[in-house]
Amino acid sequence: MNVEFYIDTADLAQIREAMSWGVLDGVTTNPSIVAREKRGFEELIRDIGRATTGKVWCEAVGANADAMVEEARAFRQWADRVVVKLPMGAEGVKAASRLAKEGIETNMTLVYSVGQAVLAAKAGVQYVSPYLGRVDDVAWSGAELIGGIARTFSRLSLPTKVIAASVRGPQQVLDMLNIGVHAVTTSYPVWAAMMKHPMTDIGLEGFMRDWKEAGL
Ligand code: G3P
Repeated sequence: MNVEFYIDTADLAQIREAMSWGVLDGVTTNPSIVAREKRGFEELIRDIGRATTGKVWCEAVGANADAMVEEARAFRQWADRVVVKLPMGAEGVKAASRLAKEGIETNMTLVYSVGQAVLAAKAGVQYVSPYLGRVDDVAWSGAELIGGIARTFSRLSLPTKVIAASVRGPQQVLDMLNIGVHAVTTSYPVWAAMMKHPMTDIGLEGFMRDWKEAGL
């Protein structure tokens, strides 16, 4: 399937279980997600790298482009297949342009407009992540924003991928796929909920009961 799915967490138990399903392409994190684990950043990212054969997304927290570039180089030592997340803004764009020349894969995060997405793409990032749920939280349409970015990228034939972030339910995952994003990241509970259906549970229970009663 030509679409990428990521789990948005730094919880190792959730990562190990979710990766064992064989349908996820890696792990995305952000500073808030990492802070929740209350342990050293490097050690945590190294553990996440060992828990997945997919990509490990790590966000730079430096105050300027120089610091972000240094962090990006360090992340690459911590795990294979690292995607460096950079915050949208002049320093993030500057860092993205420099990392593109070094062949380091990057993502521009906290993207809230088509203009920001286009500038990030021009800087050479591989992904942009607009935040679906957080746009909806402030009474605008996250789907409209993400649809607009996807349409503009396609019209300009840009190779940059759109990864929908801040996705808070299984229906939103499907809405994003229908809008034409290339990737989705969401939490463990959302992926787990997407796998479940009460009718599946009822049906399976019936099959197992009948099987047992027949004594085959
Ligand atoms: O990692 C970025 C994004 O997925 C966070 O989502 O639910 O905190 O808005 P949320």
